[in-house]
Formats: sequence, structure tokens, C-alpha cells
Amino acid sequence: LKAVILIGGPQKGTRFRPLSLDTPKPLFPIAGLPLIQHHIAACANLEECKEILIIGSYSASTMGQFITDMQKEYTMIIRYLQEFTPLGTGGGLYHFRDQVRAGNPAAFFLLNGDVCADFPLRELWKFHEERPNALVTMMGTEATRQQAIFYGCMVREASTKAVTHYVEKPNSYVSTLINCGVYVCSLQVFSIMADAFQRKQDEFYSGNGQVSPGYISWEQDVLSPLAGSNKLFAMQSTNWWSQVKTAGSAIYANRHYLELHRNKYSKSPCTIIPDVYIHPTAAVDSTAVIGPNVSIGAGVTVGGGVRIKESIVLNNATLHDHSLVMYAVVGQEATVGEWSRIEGTPSDPDPNKPFAKMDNQPLFNSDGRLNPSITILGAGVVVPGETILLNSIVLPHKHLNRNYKHEIIL
Ligand code: GDD
Repeated sequence: LKAVILIGGPQKGTRFRPLSLDTPKPLFPIAGLPLIQHHIAACANLEECKEILIIGSYSASTMGQFITDMQKEYTMIIRYLQEFTPLGTGGGLYHFRDQVRAGNPAAFFLLNGDVCADFPLRELWKFHEERPNALVTMMGTEATRQQAIFYGCMVREASTKAVTHYVEKPNSYVSTLINCGVYVCSLQVFSIMADAFQRKQDEFYSGNGQVSPGYISWEQDVLSPLAGSNKLFAMQSTNWWSQVKTAGSAIYANRHYLELHRNKYSKSPCTIIPDVYIHPTAAVDSTAVIGPNVSIGAGVTVGGGVRIKESIVLNNATLHDHSLVMYAVVGQEATVGEWSRIEGTPSDPDPNKPFAKMDNQPLFNSDGRLNPSITILGAGVVVPGETILLNSIVLPHKHLNRNYKHEIIL
């Protein structure tokens, strides 16, 4: 088995700003690990999976150190394949098809790099194998009617679980079973993709195509035509799953992954309300109170009496005595002064539902007003003592000198 992880490129991830200004979204730390390391760990957990190909249009130098670290950490082949230009969710996969087919793997997983889940890969593979006709088996989950239209929606045949109808982000209601961006595929899918490729080339050169040659949408050009052919199946998962689109949704992904990895965390020097991840190199005062759902990165300093909940504190940030951070992301090397408050607002999805359209709202409302529910401090921001920051976004390297509420500080 192999796995392919799609990570897009610097042109994407705009809703993840300002966090993506310093760290590419696929490498943003969630529960102490870069976002796509959770995907890698899930693949590495499956001993049959021997190789991971990460496809995107970030430069090789952006991804280089991460790939080297992963190769050291996991005993499998892990490689980065760079698209010369964004080729869409199917184009890069098709372009690098020979790399995927090499060694004739029994099947390959295809994972969107911006989802978080417990990735039930073995279950998905078994489900796929039990259906010899299947070229693609995708993981689906149940959403509400209002949520579903923002995703790929499918209708399945009740007994066989074959997908009879698939519409990517439909304009009106199709179904509440949505595509999670987690698939297992047989190698024969490339012959279907060859047809899609040819179609797109013809469109492009006849002047009807809107995007570059080689561009293929996996969803529209592959999944939609496969629906109804008895070659596309979907396994419904009831476990948690969500996308990571905005900085706010990173807070919820953090919560999920913290829970999943709970038993791996070492003891902490201060009062902890689980789940909390603290990097071993962080210096945390024993009188701080941290949790629930907090990740603290390498080299962070947390002073006396500090309170942190529902937040991510990135590497080398400093939180001075008695500061409070909740529903917030504190950027690398940012400093929060004594008695300051950095606060967002909880906009919790229903905790009883495995699926939640997390905080994926756009940064701005249609009337142009800022719409954050969390507060974000960009890298290197300095917040002086006794300052209050509510539902605001501060771009990197700003030195603040007053309180802010519902503002974006450029
Ligand atoms: N290599 C590469 N090249 N990757 C890409 C490209 C590209 O040109 N474009 C997008 N991706 C990656 C993104 O980084 C992301 O990880 C994944 O492919 C999905 O791409 P999006 O274009 O952001 O799609 P989406 O998230 O709105 O919708 C997709 O995911 C949903 C689940 O999260 C669709 O597959 C939906 O059907 C699905 O419900």
C-alpha cells in the first residue's frame, strides 16, 4: 500500500491567514505535531503502508526540513513531489501517477491534507477490498442540511453502499452524507483519470477550459463521472472529523487530536485540566493553570499565575505573569505582558455530534466587518502589560499600545 497526501500550495490557505504567513498551513502545529504529521502517523500505523507521497506546489525548500524529519521519525519512504503549477485535486496525482504505480501497490490512500480525523484507514481498505468492483472508496460522514452544501455530497445505494450520485458543493440540497476527503483507490483509477485528463486537455485547447493544461478536479472530473457506475463506494464513519480551513478551526482540530493522543503526554509541572500538550522544552511556572484543550510549543515561557484554555501557543512565545489566553492562537515569539487578556469567543459545535462544521466562517462578513471568533496574535507580536484584546487579529511583528475589540491590526 501507498498513500498520497494533497497539500495544495502557497496560493491556497488564505483563510488561514495570518497564521499561514509564517508557517505553511500543512505544517501548522496541532496538538504538538504539524497538521499533516497526523496523516503520516496514521499511515505509518498501518504496517502494510510502505510509502507516502506528499503532493503540492510549495517549494521543495519549504517542505525539505519537514520531509527529512519525517524520514528520520518513521521507517517508511516519505517523499515530497512538487507540482510545477497548481494542478487541482486530481492533476498532481495524475501527473505523478508513475510514482504512485511504481512497485505495483495493492491500492493507495488519498488524503486531503487539510482534514483532521482518526483516519480509519484499515477499516476503509477492508471495505474497499470487500467490493472487488471498487476503483475508489471514500470516507463519508453525516452533516446537517445547512452544512452539507459546502462539501461534496453523495447518495448511496442502501445495501451495496455504491455511490449513485455525487455533486461537489451543490447549489441545493442533495444529501447530508458528505465526502471527508479520505479515500482508498485501486491503481485502475488512473485509466479513468486518463479519460478525464484527455477531456480537460481538449477543453483547454479548444479555448473552453478555464484553467491550466493538466488541471483535473478529483471531485468534478473523477468522482462525479464515477458515481452510478458501481465503481465508487462510500464508507460512513461516525467518528469525529473536520476540516482545517481557518485559524479558528485549528482550535477544534487541536481539541480532537489532543484527545486522541491523550495517553502519550508526559506529566506537567503545573495545574492541568486535560487535554493539554506541553513541549518538553517549554518552561512553565508551577502556579500556571492550563487547559482544557491547549497545545504549548517548544521553548515557550509561561509565567506565574498564567491561565490558558482552548488555545495554541506557538514556539518561543512568552506569556508573562498573570496573563490570560483563551480561544486564541499566540504566534511564534510573540510576547504577552503581565495581567493582559487575549480572548476569543467560544463558538463550539455541538459536542455530541461527531461531525461539526467547525469554525470555518470567512474572516469578513459580507458587509466587510471582521468576523473572527478567536483572537490571533501573529509571530513576534508584542502585547504590553494590562492590555485587553478581544476577538481581534494582529498581523505579525506589531507592537500594540492600547486595547482592541473586534479589530484587525495591520
Ligand atoms: N497538490 C495539490 N494541488 N493539492 C491541492 C490542490 C492542487 O492544485 N488544490 C487543492 N489541493 C488540496 C488542498 O490543500 C486540500 O488539502 C485538498 O486538496 C482539498 O482541496 P480544496 O480545494 O481546499 O477542497 P475543499 O476542502 O473545499 O473540498 C474538498 O474537501 C472536502 C472535505 O474536506 C472536496 O474533496 C470536498 O468534496 C470534501 O467534502
